[in-house]
Formats: sequence, structure tokens, C-alpha cells
Amino acid sequence: MGKKVYALIKSRNKPRLELFSHRIINWQQQHGRHGLPWQGADVYRVWLSEIMLQQTQVVTVIPYFLRFVARFPTIADLAADSEDSVLAHWSGLGYYSRARNLHRTAQLIMQRHDGKFPQQFEDILALPGIGRSTAAAISALAFHERCAILDGNVKRVLARYYAIEGYTGEKKIEAQLWQQAEALLPKGDVAVYTQGLMDLGAMICTRSKPQCPLCPLHADCAAYQNERVAQLPTPRPRKVLPEKHNTFLLLLNGSDILLEKRPGNGIWGGLWCPPQVDPKLLKTVEDADAYCFKHFGTETIHTIALSTFTHTFTHFKLHITPLLLQVINKPKQIQKPGSVWLNVDDALQAAIPKPVRKLLQDVQARLT
Ligand code: ADE
Repeated sequence: MGKKVYALIKSRNKPRLELFSHRIINWQQQHGRHGLPWQGADVYRVWLSEIMLQQTQVVTVIPYFLRFVARFPTIADLAADSEDSVLAHWSGLGYYSRARNLHRTAQLIMQRHDGKFPQQFEDILALPGIGRSTAAAISALAFHERCAILDGNVKRVLARYYAIEGYTGEKKIEAQLWQQAEALLPKGDVAVYTQGLMDLGAMICTRSKPQCPLCPLHADCAAYQNERVAQLPTPRPRKVLPEKHNTFLLLLNGSDILLEKRPGNGIWGGLWCPPQVDPKLLKTVEDADAYCFKHFGTETIHTIALSTFTHTFTHFKLHITPLLLQVINKPKQIQKPGSVWLNVDDALQAAIPKPVRKLLQDVQARLT
């Protein structure tokens, strides 16, 4: 039998499948997420949502998003307010460089783009805090441009669909995935397609317990067909995170607590935290009292060590031991600038990181 005839018979026997992108689009329309507060909104809201949704789930983002746009309805409003105010509205979402970049970008858009969010992919990509996938998501969702996205969810979908072995954060594997993502783009309906890929990754092709029978791709998903779904994508090579220890000094005068603004762009940069000290410097409770007298001029009447807990960052684990020191004075002259005595209720409204929020809530409960 001639090669051509054989190929024809083979293709006739194969079940006819719709294009990958058409299946995604149809699935999104029938089963995907609709009515999210940023869907079909202006580019400012699309941009904001994409930044908030980096490393954060939709259910967590929605209330933050709604509060944020109520406070900063336009790019001009965002640019005009202080970084402190923007961070306060981000407080608890984590990864605070996102908020600092957002604020800086809003100011840049006012200065360089006449207050209008740029439409060109290259101009979007040049903005602070916007990588290739985020720039593509904004272009596709807000401007219906044919741009491929490749966030964590999409990497998982494609790694399974093509049964691509290897850690998807590795350059070579990532390049292969970008190539596939570009090749799969539909001619039209890019916004629905993009949302569909994201929705499929979040709702069906989940990391654990994926719902393969409900997936529009299962008929030719290589991982599903070869029973490799549980093994793909290949997990990140395990590395042991370094561990650090820190003592948080919760200096309490009545219901006022001492907070310091963290410097620069480092961990929790720009956020308000209780003073932190290397636990090696404090062997006893008396050491802590003496340290506080020396650095803050406070006189302690009572000290309690609260339970140590752990906060995990991307690159290290931080073990936090909080010391609650009740002090009888509130010296105005504190050596360092950027220190403030705040009522605990007010401190909870400020730009504070998540573990500090938890601690302040504990302190608040002790006060009532
Ligand atoms: N994750 C990232 N972008 C998203 C979006 N637009 N909708 C839902 N989840 C997302």
C-alpha cells in the first residue's frame, strides 16, 4: 500500500478532534469563570488583577481587589497617593514588591504615557514588575492581542498535554513550553482563550487531584493517555531552605505599640514592623529589657515570651519569637527615624506584613 493511502486510512480511523484552542474556548464559555470583578473591565483593572493574582488565588484576591479599586479608582488616583497608603491596602497579600512596583508604574504612566496605560506589548513589558507572561495576559485580556501566556498553571497544562519531562522552571524546558504556547494560539477570541487556559489550570488541571474526565483535552493529553498525570509536571528539585531566627520586640505602652518602618526594597521593605533583634543578643528577659532601655529609652515592667512561629519566604524560613514587653513610658525621642507609637487598632490598619498582623491581633485580644 502506498504511503499516502496508508496515511489517509490512518487519519480516517483517528477520532476527529477539534483544535486545542477551540476546545479551550468552548470549555471556557460553558464551564469557565465568569463575572470576576476584573473581567471585561478597563486595562487598569486587568493590570491590577494580574499583579494581585501572581502567586495568589482568586478567592484571596477578590476582596483586596475590590477595596483597592474603591480607594484608587484610576491610575491617576494610584499615582497621586503615598507608597505607605498603597502598601496599607496591600497589607496581608504578601510579596510587597508587587505593590511598590504598581505604585511606581502608575507614576511612570502619568509621566511618560500621559496617564494612559500603554497598548504596545513591548511598552507593557518595559514597565516595572511586568514579565513576559503578565504583559501577554494584559495584552490578550484587555486589548485582544494574539499573545501567549505561560504562568504556573499554563505550564502545568502544557507539560501534561505534551508529556514534557523536566522541571518547568528550567530555562530549556521553559523555552520549549513558550514555543508550544505560541504555536497553540487561536486566530481570534484570544481573550476567552487566555482566560480558558487559566481557568482550566485552576479548576481542572490542578496540581493534585486533577479532574481529567472533565477536561476538554483528555482525549489527546499525552500525560492522561499514558497515565503520567500524577508525575507531571516534574516537581522543582528539592532544596533545603536556609533558616533564620529573629526576636520581635512588642513594646506595649497601654494599648500603644512601637513600630518601625522597614528600609528599602528588602524583606517587607516600606512596611511597619515591631523592632527586630538577633536572638543571640538576648540570652535572658533582662537582656531584652536592657536592650530596649538602651535603644528606645523604655522602662519595662513586665515581659512575656509568646510562642515561636515560622514564616516561610521564597528563599528562607524565618522563625519568629515574639517578646511582649509592657513599658511604663513612651519616649518621644527615639534614635531612629521612621519609628512610631501607634494604637494597636490603628496599627492593624497600617501597611504591615501578615505575621505582624497575626501578632497584633493576639496583642489586641490580650488587651480586651
Ligand atoms: N490568574 C492569573 N490571571 C487570572 C485571571 N485573569 N483570572 C483568573 N485567574 C488568574
